[in-house]
Amino acid sequence: MSVYVVTGVSKGIGFEFLRQLSEDKDNLVIGLVRNKAATEKKVAAELGDRPNVHILHGDLTNYASLKEATAETAKIVGDRGVDYLVANAGLVPEFDAYGPVSALADKIEEVDAGAAETFQTNVTGQLHLFNLFVPLIKKGKAKKVIAISSGVGDIDLTNQCEIDVGPIYAASKAALNIIVAKFNAEYKKEGILFLSISPGLVEVGRYANATPEQVNGLMGFVGKLASYAPHFKGPITPEESVKAVRSVWEKASIEEGYGGAFISHLGNKQWV
Ligand SMILES: NC(=O)c1ccc[n+]([C@@H]2O[C@H](COP(=O)([O-])OP(=O)(O)OC[C@H]3O[C@@H](n4cnc5c(N)ncnc54)[C@H](OP(=O)(O)O)[C@@H]3O)[C@@H](O)[C@H]2O)c1
Repeated sequence: MSVYVVTGVSKGIGFEFLRQLSEDKDNLVIGLVRNKAATEKKVAAELGDRPNVHILHGDLTNYASLKEATAETAKIVGDRGVDYLVANAGLVPEFDAYGPVSALADKIEEVDAGAAETFQTNVTGQLHLFNLFVPLIKKGKAKKVIAISSGVGDIDLTNQCEIDVGPIYAASKAALNIIVAKFNAEYKKEGILFLSISPGLVEVGRYANATPEQVNGLMGFVGKLASYAPHFKGPITPEESVKAVRSVWEKASIEEGYGGAFISHLGNKQWV
């Protein structure tokens, strides 16, 4: 039995983490979300009564809410602490998603505001989350902190496939990877594994409302991935992704050299 804290369980990959991890009645799963009432309703409707699930409010752009969520978690878990912190929540902004850097040239205010929110959510918010939860992770047995990153934060993939879309999002995930490595540098000696894992390309319905022009921009990106990985058949489901990511974090250990690493759902540097 393990205690998990997972951020961003309201939908997408995060909801699937919540679903799979709480299937085992012996696990205790605490989900952090921005809209607690809506998520509790969704959990009740789609997962039924799961007494091992607790939903707490926690917004990565609001330090006080994260601090409160940590205190509430401590009350729930008591001396067991937290085994796994899964930092899944993240902002995938729209403003930079569909075009190359030059498309941002005349959108100064939009870029500055969008980048500030993206970095607060994907980088500094995660730093605060990790610092707040380290005392609970120290009490846990597994002692694993998993950041859900993205292969688009990999410089080699970007250069090899000439991925020109999503520059600010990609930069935020590259920055997250470094933050994870910094935590490893400090906490590896205390036996805490900090690890960045990319979930693969996962269908979560994000681009359902994109215009044909925007879809064209994205198809260029997906087409480049197909030449990088000829086996690539398109996005995987949240179920497939979460199974793969869980298997990667189960195998990963400090002893095997995974401290601070950035790897994919396949356990290596193959991103799709
Ligand atoms: N899907 C993919 O192909 C893919 C690929 C690589 C990496 N990822 C990463 O995987 C993770 C999950 O993404 P997803 O595809 O499942 O996206 P999603 O469906 O958009 O879910 C994102 C989650 O993050 C939460 N979130 C956003 N901003 C937040 C904030 N300020 N504070 C707290 N929670 C916040 C959202 O909550 P709300 O409901 O309140 O908005 C939602 O629960 C992200 O870190 C993403 O970068 C996804």
